[in-house]
Amino acid sequence: MKKIFLIIIIIISLPALGSEIIDKRKQLFQENKDHMRFIYKAMQSGDMDPIINSAMAIEKFASEMPEYFPKGSESRGASDNIWSDFEGFIKSANANQLAAQQLRLAAQENEIEKLNSLFNELSNTCKSCHRSYKN
Ligand code: HEC
Repeated sequence: MKKIFLIIIIIISLPALGSEIIDKRKQLFQENKDHMRFIYKAMQSGDMDPIINSAMAIEKFASEMPEYFPKGSESRGASDNIWSDFEGFIKSANANQLAAQQLRLAAQENEIEKLNSLFNELSNTCKSCHRSYKN
């Protein structure tokens, strides 16, 4: 009897767990969008600190991104390609992480002339993943 209760509780809480992780990743993606805006603004004013901080936040999420897409966490926005080609998805997240890292390093080294093209490259890694893995 106890076992049955336990199983029922687990079954009831599973979808809740799934939707929690979906909500969390959506929130982090929204924050990514904000960070891109902060970086763009800071580039106009030549203020390196917000660029460094926001690039670092993007890097961090990119390094954890695949963990936010466990099997069974399907959502309207997430393409099935994520799970049919999880390695490609990981590669795409890695490219995002690397591009954010390069932007951060350039800001830390005060290499202002490099920022524009590194920002565009970072933005392209967002779009490229969306093309393949976002509905
Ligand atoms: C490796 C793949 C990948 C990368 C890299 C990536 N995204 Fe996404 N993004 C997704 C997926 C998949 C979704 C859909 C998630 C869902 O709805 O469950 C998404 C959703 C979003 C959303 C919508 C969130 C919502 O509220 O529904 C925004 C905004 C977004 N991404 C911005 C960005 C920005 C900005 C970057 C780059 C800094 C970025 N993403 C990088 C895969 C990626």
